[in-house]
Amino acid sequence: MQYVTLAKVKEVLPGQTKAVQVGQCTILLVNDQGEFYALQSLCGHQNLPLVGGKVWRGMLDCPWHHFQYDVRTGENLYPKQVYPLNALPNLRQQIKPLCTYPVRVVNEKVQVGIPESCKPE
Ligand code: FES
Repeated sequence: MQYVTLAKVKEVLPGQTKAVQVGQCTILLVNDQGEFYALQSLCGHQNLPLVGGKVWRGMLDCPWHHFQYDVRTGENLYPKQVYPLNALPNLRQQIKPLCTYPVRVVNEKVQVGIPESCKPE
């Protein structure tokens, strides 16, 4: 794994997201109250882009149909914690955690640990 600079700190303000293409992957940067996180950029529900989703107190809200994720772990918060999954088998298949990537801030630059699988062929 190699850390790559994906943005300057001031390019992603608190509450904002930014999608960055890195090789074969698109990484979603999230600024939650000054802390940066990096997640996969597509929602588990219908594989639509999460960029532009609302960020609020550790939670990312998908702008399409409002699935919600924990920005730290990628875990699905809504609807997983609301609906009984055994009652909704179709929904169960759409509720997946998002991949997360390690983040560090160095000299006002947001760097993300990129797995080998994202590198260009
Ligand atoms: S695509 Fe994200 S909630 Fe539907």
